[in-house]
Amino acid sequence: MDKREYQRRRETLMQHIGEDGMAVLSAAPERPRNRDVHHPYRQDSDFWYLTGFTEPDAVAVFVPGREQGQYILFSRERDAERETWEGRTIGQDAAVSEYGADDAFPIDDIDEILPGLMEGRDKVYCAMGADPDFDQRLIGWVNALRARARAGVKAPLEYVSLEHIVHEMRLVKSKAEVALMREAARVTAAAHERLLGVIRPGLFEYQVEAELLYDFRRHNGEPAYPIIAGSGANACVLHYISNSDELAEGDLILIDAGVEMNGYAADITRTFPVSGRFTEEQRLIYQLVLDAQRAALAEVRPGNHWNAAHEAATRVLAEGMVELGLLSGSVDEVIESGDYRQFFMHRTGHWLGMDVHDVGDYKVDGHWRELEPGMALTVEPGLYIPPGSDVDPRWQGIGVRIEDNCVITRDGHENLTEAAPKSIEAIEAAMGGG
Ligand code: GLY
Ligand code: MN
Ligand code: MN
Repeated sequence: MDKREYQRRRETLMQHIGEDGMAVLSAAPERPRNRDVHHPYRQDSDFWYLTGFTEPDAVAVFVPGREQGQYILFSRERDAERETWEGRTIGQDAAVSEYGADDAFPIDDIDEILPGLMEGRDKVYCAMGADPDFDQRLIGWVNALRARARAGVKAPLEYVSLEHIVHEMRLVKSKAEVALMREAARVTAAAHERLLGVIRPGLFEYQVEAELLYDFRRHNGEPAYPIIAGSGANACVLHYISNSDELAEGDLILIDAGVEMNGYAADITRTFPVSGRFTEEQRLIYQLVLDAQRAALAEVRPGNHWNAAHEAATRVLAEGMVELGLLSGSVDEVIESGDYRQFFMHRTGHWLGMDVHDVGDYKVDGHWRELEPGMALTVEPGLYIPPGSDVDPRWQGIGVRIEDNCVITRDGHENLTEAAPKSIEAIEAAMGGG
């Protein structure tokens, strides 16, 4: 990502904050796994979005209009001994020269310096509640300043949500962000497509997961969320991640996996027949979900509201469920009563970006949000009929979801994940079962 893009984001943020406010944002904390081992580090998305800085132990401070510099970055000091173990630290010089900070200080000096940066400002914009330990420190800095009120020091009176501003910014993607998302989508779609030549009875679900990990890592990415590879009835468990079972002849396998590359996520689901050919029942359910997805995709365009895709998918699925005898009653009744939720229990999508379930409000002033160019979302209807459902046994154990990633354009949308095959003919032909 170009340095100037981070600079532009910070300028936009400063305009929102105004000269009576200032903002303090902490890097994500490191999380211990056990003893000397930490979980792999992932920067907080808001912090990354505004700074491009991916080290832990950092605090970014934004003070609009401050003459000596508006953007101040506290971070680890370079230390030869630690660098022997952990590799290069960015340090204060590069924080200024490479990351665009106006001023940079060692994180260990923050208690002495930060209260002074708050002086004279009314509001502190912060992510209160995200990290309770950091909240305590922030309150401590403000209180340190308030304690000097009798000496004429003006301390901030108000804490204001920083997330609301940053999340509205993140919701609408720039050209450069869309390019990164396109790349994550391309790698993910190719990984799903490659599975068509790999999946066969006798393989284990974790081996399917391993194939995806191989494709993600060899592109310098990693899974944006735990990979779901659920065969047979496991496909009906929405967050199935144990991926421990053997793929059996005649089953479907539902694969929900997306790479994160350069901080941006893809999120694709495909459902394939283990033996290369759908059974009659699987074919009917699969085609129904695909029809619902196509109906939903047709609603993904500027000016339409967020929920239009979900409403379209729900109607198609409800019609199909009634027609196949999975539900009784009229289509309108099934929708109004919510009966369809027995087999379609999640929503049709979510915002997508740096986080797989990305930030941004879905409603504004109580109304579903209108889609605008640059917004990115998933479209992912599904139908899940677990064993023991109150339907003809021939449907039981079938679970199907089909998920694509879209960016709203001026006159419709770009489907970033189109390259991952999803028609019955394409899947069967690629698996040699057609
Ligand atoms: N992979 C998470 C989701 O589809 O929402
Ligand atoms: Mn998904
Ligand atoms: Mn999703």
